This record gives sequence, structure tokens and C-alpha cells, in this order.
Amino acid sequence: MRLIALLLLYIATLIHNSAYAGNAENGERVLRPCIVCHLADRHGNKIGPSLKNIIQRRAATESGYRFSSAMIKAGEAGLVWDKKTLTEYLYNPQAMVPGTRMASVKITSKKDIDDLIAYLEKISQQ
Ligand code: HEC
Repeated sequence: MRLIALLLLYIATLIHNSAYAGNAENGERVLRPCIVCHLADRHGNKIGPSLKNIIQRRAATESGYRFSSAMIKAGEAGLVWDKKTLTEYLYNPQAMVPGTRMASVKITSKKDIDDLIAYLEKISQQ
């Protein structure tokens, strides 16, 4: 009995680990075109603001970055980055925040967004 329980625990651990690794791994791949313009593992600005701690951050609040007035207005109106808002923004930045300086990146896969968020959360905690 104890052996079976241990075996099940072992299998559950294997499944859990492989699912998690695949997720973050794909998230890193999804982020690749973004890091031309964004740092993500630390603060500091490039062409775009750092994405460190972006999840649950209010739009246009990363310090030291000069946001477009369009993004500042969106932040003041209450835009906070989470799964729903990122999904909409990354699908078509200009449609969601007209006048934003960010070019279209067109991420259309919901799974890619999930993985991207998992990865951004993971590196924000490091
Ligand atoms: C060609 C450069 C470029 C690329 C590529 C790019 N971005 Fe951006 N991004 C920007 C700029 C510039 C801004 C600032 C927009 C503004 O102020 O209107 C921005 C803003 C953002 C914001 C809002 C940040 C905040 O603090 O409010 C998020 C979120 C974001 N980008 C995510 C991404 C993700 C995720 C990708 C990849 C899928 C990506 N960006 C690709 C240039 C880029």
C-alpha cells in the first residue's frame, strides 16, 4: 500500500514538473520578440518600459519611462495589466490604446498568452 502511494506521488510530481517547465519554456519563447524593446527580468527602460512586475501593475507607472500620453490616460482611467487586458492589448495594441507608441505584435493564441504570463510572473519573482 505504502509503495503504491509513493509511486503515485512520484508520478504526480513528474507530471506536475513537466507541465510547469513546458509552460514557462513556451512563455520565454513567446517573449522573445518583445525583448528587442523590453527588459523583463529587471527594471530599466529600452525602447519600451521594463516588464518586470507587469502583472497587476497599472499602465504607464514604470518609473523613469516616458510613456505616450495615450498610455498615461489609459492608466489614469484605471487600466491594470492582467490576463484579460494583456490578451486584448497584445492582440492589437492600437485598437485597445489608440495612440500607443507600441507597434502591433499580434499574439492571437490564448495558450501563448497564458504561457507568457506564467513566464513573466516567474521572472518577476526572481
Ligand atoms: C518595437 C518595440 C516593441 C516591441 C517589439 C514590443 N513592445 Fe511593448 N511597448 C513598446 C513601447 C514603445 C511601449 C510604450 C507604449 C506607450 O507609452 O504608449 C510599450 C508598452 C508595453 C506595455 C505597457 C507597459 C506599461 O507599463 O504600461 C506592455 C504590457 C507591453 N508593451 C508588452 C509587450 C509584450 C508582451 C511584447 C511582446 C509580445 C511587446 N510589448 C513588444 C515597444 C515594444
